[in-house]
Amino acid sequence: MDQCLTLDQHIERYAHADPLRAAVGAAVRAIAAASIDIAELIAHGDLAGRLGRACGRNADGDVQKALDLEADALVRKALASVPVALLLSEESPVPESIDGRGLIAVAVDPLDGSSNIDANMCVGTIFSILPMTADPALAFLQPGSGQLAAGFVIYGPQTSLVLTLGDGVRIFTRDPRDRTFKLARSGVRIPSRSHEFAINASNQRHWDPPIRAYIEDCLAGADGEAAANMRWIGSLVADAYRILSRGGIFLYPADGRKGYADGRLRLLYEAHPMAFIVEQAGGGATTGAARILDVAARDPHQRVPLIMGSIENVRTVERLHLDTLILAERNAPLFATRGFFRI
Ligand code: AHG
Ligand code: MN
Ligand code: MN
Repeated sequence: MDQCLTLDQHIERYAHADPLRAAVGAAVRAIAAASIDIAELIAHGDLAGRLGRACGRNADGDVQKALDLEADALVRKALASVPVALLLSEESPVPESIDGRGLIAVAVDPLDGSSNIDANMCVGTIFSILPMTADPALAFLQPGSGQLAAGFVIYGPQTSLVLTLGDGVRIFTRDPRDRTFKLARSGVRIPSRSHEFAINASNQRHWDPPIRAYIEDCLAGADGEAAANMRWIGSLVADAYRILSRGGIFLYPADGRKGYADGRLRLLYEAHPMAFIVEQAGGGATTGAARILDVAARDPHQRVPLIMGSIENVRTVERLHLDTLILAERNAPLFATRGFFRI
């Protein structure tokens, strides 16, 4: 691995003289620069005023915290000098035109994990970069497989940028000595199988049968296998970073609650970028019924069920969804006995 390769050096190698790649690289560098300012703001905690105080609601109906808006402003300011044709932010109702000559469209979750802000827990910034389309109305209606780059910054004990440019996954960590991102890990691979799952178990009574069956079997343990372990951080970036580090499966499924028919996570600036990264690291990402990267949005803040991580575990959940459809068609009793499958 190139010891101390900086993010800027990596992007220079990637961009060459290719105008589209240069635009992608400029957007990544701008978001990375904004993330250093966001990290330093977060480090102040309540000394910077209650960053977790409610300030309104976004188009998706979520409460906007002060840090959501501060992070959004810092990302916008950084992208203002980059050839971005359209910007879609979680904090804005519709995509906004930035540079009419821009070659790329960027979707961003400026601050992911907002419920953790006042709890001094990991939060992050997630972004997805797409090629701009001739018809601006189609830019964010592309399937996830059209992404040119995706990444997220996790603000934790380290501030680290997880990045894919379509050539694998690299992790750059902010060097506190000089505020630059330096290559810390390259060729990141997710173990193909894991006994660790992440789900908000308080929603169990609302889950559909395939998810309920999968988690029941995880908890019951397959014969002779190690018992499962559970983690739920409430920040997608933190659960994703852990899975990239040691494997696991993350599930935010559709459930029976009002407004959760497609789960909670947004396709364009949470599921698409995470799916690109996870697949580039050898993992899988599905709605249960479809590969996330094959899904195209119908509207900017569309939600989607997200199940991602170790490929064998993800395939098991997909089989359960398929079997449920088969069983439903044959009207057989669902999951009459345990041990229906193995994780
Ligand atoms: P955001 O703060 O951008 O709205 O994202 C929060 C998301 C995601 O980070 C996390 O996995 C999930 O919400 C947690 O949802 P619950 O609070 O329903 O567990
Ligand atoms: Mn989020
Ligand atoms: Mn957010």
